This record gives sequence, C-alpha cells and structure tokens, in this order.
Amino acid sequence: MTLSLPHVSAARIHAELLGGDYAFRLDHAVARYVSAVAPWWPSAVQGLHHNGGRLVAHLAARGLDQILDLGSGLPPHRGRQVHQIVDASRRGARGTRTVYVDRDPHAHTARRIHLVDQPNATSVLVDITDTEALFSDPAVRELDFRRPVAVLLHDVLPWLPDGDAAHLVTELRRRLPPGSVISLTHLLPSPPPYATTPLVRCYREAGIGLWPRNLTEITAWSGTWPTYAHGPHTGAGAVPVCALLLRAPGPGRFTRPAFWSSSRRGAFHGTAPSPRTPRVNSVPEEAIRAGAR
Ligand SMILES: C[S@@+](CC[C@H](N)C(=O)[O-])C[C@H]1O[C@@H](n2cnc3c(N)ncnc32)[C@H](O)[C@@H]1O
Repeated sequence: MTLSLPHVSAARIHAELLGGDYAFRLDHAVARYVSAVAPWWPSAVQGLHHNGGRLVAHLAARGLDQILDLGSGLPPHRGRQVHQIVDASRRGARGTRTVYVDRDPHAHTARRIHLVDQPNATSVLVDITDTEALFSDPAVRELDFRRPVAVLLHDVLPWLPDGDAAHLVTELRRRLPPGSVISLTHLLPSPPPYATTPLVRCYREAGIGLWPRNLTEITAWSGTWPTYAHGPHTGAGAVPVCALLLRAPGPGRFTRPAFWSSSRRGAFHGTAPSPRTPRVNSVPEEAIRAGAR
C-alpha cells in the first residue's frame, strides 16, 4: 500500500497570496515564509493578477473571444473569473469560449465546480509542457483555430524550467492562427530591495522551482512575432515583474491598453490592489538584467 503524503501546491500558495482560503497548513506555512523573506512578493502577485484581468477585458473588447488560460490556477475568491470578464466585455455576445488548463488536481476540481451551468467555459487537467496532450484535448480542440485565440500565460512561465518554457511558447507560435496573441507575465531577476534570490530559495526549499528571467531571455521566445511590453516594472513601482504580449502576424493590430506604460522603461503606478504596494523609483533595466538569480 502506498501512502499519499500531503505536499505543497504552487496553485494553493498562489491563491493564498491572492487572499483566498484554499491553502492547507503546509501551503499556508510556505506562503508565510515567502512573504516574510520577500515582503514585496504578495503585492507583486496581486498586481500581476489584477492587471491580467484588465488585459483580458481589453482583448475581449477588441474581439478576442476565445481564451486558452494556461496554468489558470484556482478560481479567485474575489473578483471575476476569466470567462466572466470576457462575457462582460463582449456584452453577452454569443460564441465566447474559455478553456482553463492546469495540472493541479485541486485547481481543476475547484474550477469545474465553479463552472457548473457555464456552457461557454470548461476546465482541463493537463501538464502544459506536454503540448501534444494539450492540443489533442477535446476541450482545446473545440476552440475554433480558424479564428484568433488569446492564450494567457499569466504568472506561469517562471514556474517552468528554461527548456519547457521555450518549447511551450515555440509550440504555441507554431499552432496559433493569424491575429492570435500570447499574453504572458514574468518575474525578473533583481537585486535588493526586491531581491529574487531568497524568494527562489524559499520556493525551492518547498520543492517548487521558480525561474526569474531577464527581458532578453523572455523576448527571445517571441521569434518573428511582434512583441509589446508593459514594464519591466509593472503594477507595483519597481517590483521586478513584466507583462509581454506576443501577436501572431495577421490582419488587425494590437492597441496598447491605457493602463500599460507607454515605454518599456516606464513604470505603471496605477491601481495595484494592495495597500502594502511599495512605491519607489524605477531601477534601471540594466540593474534587473544584472541581478543575481
Ligand atoms: C502562480 S499560479 C498562476 C495562476 C493564474 N494564471 C493567475 O494569474 O492567477 C501558476 C499556476 O500554473 C500551474 N502550473 C505550473 N506548471 C504547470 C504545468 N506544467 N502544467 C499546467 N499547469 C502548471 C500551477 O499549478 C499554478 O496553478
């Protein structure tokens, strides 16, 4: 007989940092540990999540009504789920479709429960690094790949090793039709006061891999696709996170949302939701690139 021992879950820790209460004791302990070591981290997570929802609304209002949300996590306790944001932005138009994908069974089950009686959204339990399994899943195949699809990779790629992250984005670029977009957010390596090395160490001690990457590494995934950046400091002063949008060449164009900074160097000092959000001057991008992992 094999015993199933409790283990920590990146999805539950993330939900805890967003203010949810899915966490088990071990998850809670890790969430407290990382928050103590990197006090800026919870507000960075909240800022990324909040801005991710705003970007979905922006894309949906411009006609992107098919969403593939990879590494979708647990349904938020506060705020709307992605398909609800899409529906609100499309003002009840027919044909919207959201597919949530996560490898975490708790995230998948909780999402399914939240999606009862929601015919325009579904949840899939798949490891997104297995792109064959991802694209052969019946729910994913139900998306209409003759029309643009918006793929969300919000706070997901930093949790994948280099090879898996590069492979996933490359496969997405190969398979997505013209006009599609890949929206991703990422943690950047940074020196103090937002040092990422201790944060990475805490997660790794808990058995969870975390890989901050600099903008050069991240934008290398774009290939020939036009890439639009919000950051490197998005949502919470100089906290080292960025948001990028990769767009498949094709008809139409991407309009930068008003809440995005107007240049790569600009900082967005907007409506990050936490009162603990630090407010400091931007550090130069070079400092982030040079930051230790
Ligand atoms: C930090 S959470 C982000 C959740 C959500 N995208 C958001 O922005 O709030 C990262 C999620 O990615 C999921 N994840 C990590 N690696 C994955 C993989 N290889 N396949 C599927 N999901 C994965 C985790 O289970 C977790 O739910």
